[in-house]
Amino acid sequence: MLKSKTLPKALQGLRLPAVAAPLFIVSGPDLVIAQCKAGIVGSFPALNAREKDGEPIMLEIWLKQITEELDRYNQANPDTPAAPFAVNQIVHRSNGRLERDLEICARWKVPIWITSLGARVEVNEAAHSCGGITLHDIINNTFAKKAIQKGADGLIAVAAGAGGHAGQQSPFALIREIREWFDGPLLLSGSISTGEALLAARTLGADLGYVGSAFIATEEANAQVEYKQMLVESGAEDIVTSSLFTGVSGNYLAPSISRAGLDPANLPSADPSSMNFSSGSSKAKAWKEIWGAGQGIGAIKSIVPAGKVVDQIEQEYRDAKQRICSDLA
Ligand SMILES: Cc1cc2nc3c(=O)[nH]c(=O)nc-3n(C[C@H](O)[C@H](O)[C@H](O)COP(=O)(O)O)c2cc1C
Repeated sequence: MLKSKTLPKALQGLRLPAVAAPLFIVSGPDLVIAQCKAGIVGSFPALNAREKDGEPIMLEIWLKQITEELDRYNQANPDTPAAPFAVNQIVHRSNGRLERDLEICARWKVPIWITSLGARVEVNEAAHSCGGITLHDIINNTFAKKAIQKGADGLIAVAAGAGGHAGQQSPFALIREIREWFDGPLLLSGSISTGEALLAARTLGADLGYVGSAFIATEEANAQVEYKQMLVESGAEDIVTSSLFTGVSGNYLAPSISRAGLDPANLPSADPSSMNFSSGSSKAKAWKEIWGAGQGIGAIKSIVPAGKVVDQIEQEYRDAKQRICSDLA
């Protein structure tokens, strides 16, 4: 198995080897700023920043707010600076904003670009043009190879149990296959919401963990309180996999599906060609009522500030490391 090379600068020096995953609707500037100040990479999907026709461009406003706030923080805390942030681009043909958003992100010198649903040379070039790096998310080894051939700097392996568009493969199998040929930055996604899981991801050969659902039940997340509370009350067995809501297989909270009047145990599947990320699509509305989450939600016990989630993961990570090391000694 290959060992990882030195990580790019943007992924070095973090408090924990972790990136907060971009969450449709849920992640905005408040959450990203809190994640970065807590010492892990914060992120948001560019498509979350929406404006009405004729209004100032929301993506510009968000990037200005995040950049200026983190700069201020870093000047006040030179010894413990904030982690850099990432913007997620949905590289799907239905995303009519992609070209505009790439130009804006390059102008704001976004340090980390997370790309999903399509690997394209020009997206990687846009990131590199401003000194950024790209991390492309994939669900199997074939897509991983394609992403690197198209110029991505690193990979996010989305394994079974992840929230949103999850993969179907075990993280044990997926990371091993990728590490046979890839020694660049590799992140693991799927049910990582504890320090133990983060340490396990590192043990498998991933450089960093990718943490999604654990940040939905936080004070800074843009999610209804009922959604946050449902996460506190639910566990892995409440997660169902369905392609109905976006056209691609994803993981959702069964109680939210029941509340919407559907039977989570009998959902029809959908045609992948129904995927649509254009603004105002019915899919965006569907995500508002049907709430996504991964299987790691059993670890969510209350609604807390995002910084507390990071504190808890760090404590568990250190304890688990010590326990394993003393077991082996
Ligand atoms: C509600 C929700 C929305 C998501 N939206 C996006 C998105 O817009 N773009 C993206 O690349 N991934 C998205 N994801 C997937 C996450 O980036 C990540 O892979 C996943 O949350 C990790 O699994 P976990 O939730 O078990 O930690 C979403 C996940 C959830 C739960």
